[in-house]
Amino acid sequence: MAEVVLSRVRRDFGAVTAVHDLNLAIAEGEFVSLLGPSGCGKTTTLRMLAGLEFPTGGEIRIGGRVVNDVPPAKRDIAMVFQSYALYPHLSVADNIAYPLKKRGVPRAERRPKVERTAELLQLTPLLDRKPRQLSGGQQQRVALGRALVRDPKVFLLDEPLSNLDAKLRIHMRAELVELHQRLGRTMVYVTHDQLEAMTMSDRIAIIDQGRLQQFAPPQEVYHAPANRFVAGFIGTPGMNLIEGTLSQEGGAWCFTAPGLRIAVGQLTDDAQAGPATLGLRPEDVTVGAGPVSGIVRVVEQSGHENIIIVEIAGNERLTLRIPASILPRTGDTVALAPDATHAHVFAAGEAGQRLNTATARPRPQTL
Ligand SMILES: Nc1ncnc2c1ncn2[C@@H]1O[C@H](COP(=O)(O)OP(=O)(O)OP(=O)(O)O)[C@@H](O)[C@H]1O
Ligand SMILES: [Mg+2]
Repeated sequence: MAEVVLSRVRRDFGAVTAVHDLNLAIAEGEFVSLLGPSGCGKTTTLRMLAGLEFPTGGEIRIGGRVVNDVPPAKRDIAMVFQSYALYPHLSVADNIAYPLKKRGVPRAERRPKVERTAELLQLTPLLDRKPRQLSGGQQQRVALGRALVRDPKVFLLDEPLSNLDAKLRIHMRAELVELHQRLGRTMVYVTHDQLEAMTMSDRIAIIDQGRLQQFAPPQEVYHAPANRFVAGFIGTPGMNLIEGTLSQEGGAWCFTAPGLRIAVGQLTDDAQAGPATLGLRPEDVTVGAGPVSGIVRVVEQSGHENIIIVEIAGNERLTLRIPASILPRTGDTVALAPDATHAHVFAAGEAGQRLNTATARPRPQTL
């Protein structure tokens, strides 16, 4: 069993609380990403799982066993560090083999494992080189290889793809997903790249300033973000967040802002008339007809679609994703129709929690 459970885990560094009472239950075999901006506590959390940092409060369990006082080598985990260090005097092959050697695996058994790992990471032609003869991306793959060569219960990966160029990153992303499926091992993956987390994870733990914001599958964090922070963090271009007023008319909730008025469907009991934030994803507004009028300020063509920035009344700017076949010009006045069924509503105030009652609303499939 290799489920990983954090119960009220906390880490203080003097006056700084890097991790606040974190609760996470990661299932055996699950791929979970810890996602959040720089300094939110991702590495600290991972280092506590590895046993390299001790929690100042709470409990960590791996496979049902409390490991707070278990040293790293006894936890049956492999970690790839954000700032990895390879042994400069060892070849690539020996670097990859090192964790096996340390555990007393005989040489004859090490070689095929190293070769398999090297093949997976496209390092075969480089096995005899020293780290200084490698590019940053190649070094990073060697660091990854050192973790993959063993078969631990849990893999901990701290931004393992950050040094790779865009193309190799996408390739490695798919490789890691496939590897996870093949090995069936629990993987905890740290990244600040929301696309990486979205594309790879079974569930994403979104963290801001050491506090867990939402722990849910990618579809859910995208379609039902728990609060304004998650809404703004997930998705590129980001969700449009518009400040305005919530009111109830004939029992139905309605959101208004200058130049914009939209029925927002059912809201939770926490909803109150007054200030609120409306969230509209760039793809949830159609251009060409509709009740909202705007002026096109920016047009970006990316081939398969166009991204436009439209200014509506009150100087509010909306970023919209439209089909490549619709190409307005800068300065054009356009009519817009926000899709009310995909409108998100967030409470006023710092937490900005989600007020829609509906949970994940995946888009209808078009085959
Ligand atoms: N050893 C330490 N001593 C003091 N403060 C620390 C220490 N390690 C981390 N911190 C602080 O704890 C917070 C969380 O740091 P952490 O490295 O976990 O962030 P992160 O989410 O991994 O960020 P990044 O994406 O930049 O790697 C930061 O404010 C950091 O400055
Ligand atoms: Mg970090």
